[in-house]
Amino acid sequence: MKTVSLDINYEEYSSIEEMAPRDQALVREAIEAQQGSYARYSGFNVGAAVLLEDGTVVRGSNQENAAYPSGLCAERTAMFAASANHPGKAMVCIAIVGGFGLTLSEEPCSPCGACRQVMAEYQTLSGKPLSVIMFGTKKAWKFARVDDILPFIFDSFNEK
Ligand code: THU
Repeated sequence: MKTVSLDINYEEYSSIEEMAPRDQALVREAIEAQQGSYARYSGFNVGAAVLLEDGTVVRGSNQENAAYPSGLCAERTAMFAASANHPGKAMVCIAIVGGFGLTLSEEPCSPCGACRQVMAEYQTLSGKPLSVIMFGTKKAWKFARVDDILPFIFDSFNEK
């Protein structure tokens, strides 16, 4: 037996202005996307924006429902819309923002496990790294690829 450790590196920004112009633009798209959030049950509004390899940006927001499990997170709304409308185009970056009552949280808005799994599959499918930006007004994080937020990814493609 041996103990193995895992190192994860990511970038931390203290303001949006500190980010690369392309990333700033994607965060602003996610902030716009938040306006479309339908979150009458939780009151937590999430916006996501996916950048495709050809520069197209696809927005998504969380959509809730009285039958709670029928709702969907912002990230998956955005990724499924991207895949449905632009099949075969690699997703290269996703930005996520969130906050109660259409505000923006101070801390980075972190995606749930199910959304991470969906990100992982699209990354595997394209063979290109999908970077993830979690935005907060006091602090924002950027991860270079999905593996950094979902180590030991389940990937049925590998079973072949
Ligand atoms: N939510 C997202 O949109 N993305 C996440 O990664 C986590 C949670 C939504 C689901 C629900 O509408 C609300 O936030 C509160 O959980």
